[in-house]
Amino acid sequence: MTIVRGPQQTDDATVAAAGDGRAEKLAQPGRLSQMLRAIAEIGADGDAISRLAFTEQERQAHRLVAGWLDELGLQVREDAIGNTIAERPGRHALPAIGIGSHLDSVPHGGRFDGIVGVVGAVELIRVLSERGIETDHPLRVVCFAGEEGARFGEPCIGSKAVTGLLERRDMRAMRDAQGVSLAEALVDVGLDPAKVASSRWEPAEWAAFLELHVEQGRVLEEANRPIGLVDVVSGSTRLRLVTRGRADHSGGTPMSLRADALAAAAEIVLAAEALANDERHRGTRATVGYLSVSPNSITTIPGLVTFTVDVRDVDSDRQRETADDVVSRARQICERRQLGLDVAVIADTSPAVLPIWLREFTASAARDVGVEYLVLTSGASHDAQVINRRVPAAMIFVPSREGLSHVPGEWTSNADIATGVDVMTETVLRLDRFLVGLAGERGLEGAS
Ligand code: GLV
Ligand code: MN
Ligand code: MN
Repeated sequence: MTIVRGPQQTDDATVAAAGDGRAEKLAQPGRLSQMLRAIAEIGADGDAISRLAFTEQERQAHRLVAGWLDELGLQVREDAIGNTIAERPGRHALPAIGIGSHLDSVPHGGRFDGIVGVVGAVELIRVLSERGIETDHPLRVVCFAGEEGARFGEPCIGSKAVTGLLERRDMRAMRDAQGVSLAEALVDVGLDPAKVASSRWEPAEWAAFLELHVEQGRVLEEANRPIGLVDVVSGSTRLRLVTRGRADHSGGTPMSLRADALAAAAEIVLAAEALANDERHRGTRATVGYLSVSPNSITTIPGLVTFTVDVRDVDSDRQRETADDVVSRARQICERRQLGLDVAVIADTSPAVLPIWLREFTASAARDVGVEYLVLTSGASHDAQVINRRVPAAMIFVPSREGLSHVPGEWTSNADIATGVDVMTETVLRLDRFLVGLAGERGLEGAS
């Protein structure tokens, strides 16, 4: 990868000065709102959204967005893992600048996570088209499939497939809570797992990837900044633990003779919390978000409990050490209680440090648009973090009300999303001009 210095290097302080506010708004909040509403109808679940990875609802959302991109004149295709990719040609045969995010949700989730980056990309294309703006590089809108790890444990499946980080055996091994494998889920929605390798990107065909996303935290809101620029995206190690005790009568069995799988699991849950709170692990987050009790009856001692632990950190050593410590504590707890314990690592994604040179373009763009920004880390996982393994990536955050995310109360104002789109549009145009200059200097084909 070529390291280039962006224009107007800053000292990388966390707060930049506001610009002069001269730029007019380009993105239209009303159009963004219409698109958000239309997508929210798919998988509506009361006041929440349940549009899980590799379900018919997710495919329906992809078809809807593909239709919008087609109407805008882009060449739209679906790849073998179900990502939707749409190309707006550039003036030259150069690598593309990618923009986009994902369309799936967690169970009982919100309307903005992922969707903001997709409708933002559609709006960006619309703004360029209605103003007759051509770019030198092709622009590629990407709607990733299966970003949320909620169904299979593994996050960012669509982006892992295009970066070559998804193995065929992973597709058979990964299973959802109903026991459906990823390979089976793909077939169920009309995709062919045997062809997934064909979705792999050739890095030379991509100049950069930009993802607009909601912050999913409260840093921007508390600092009263409309834009966040991400320096590091947290990694996650996900464990599935099974405590194996003995189901028995809740009244007939004396306390001293029990092998209660739930009591052991409860101790492990608290141990995970204590480990993440330990100052050696400062910054680590550990969550038990899924737990299933068998036989789950009021009058039977739990015999078997299956649960997950999601350990996240921006520091990969701390992330993996904490996960190891959770497993050690779980073993001690089960040994003392004379219970069986199964441990499986169901996903392990490293944190990503996003390239400063690319973030400098987003910072210059924010100044041009006339908005203040913060540089911040992301606690959530993102497709951009995976794409960055092969293609330089940047992330632009817009504020989340009260920091809420993965819940129905997730909310970002249309005005804030529009500001994010304007910063992304300006970033794309700056990057396009700068990189074509570089390509021209090197006499690359098509960049004359
Ligand atoms: C995705 O939002 C994740 O971080 O789980
Ligand atoms: Mn997301
Ligand atoms: Mn999410």
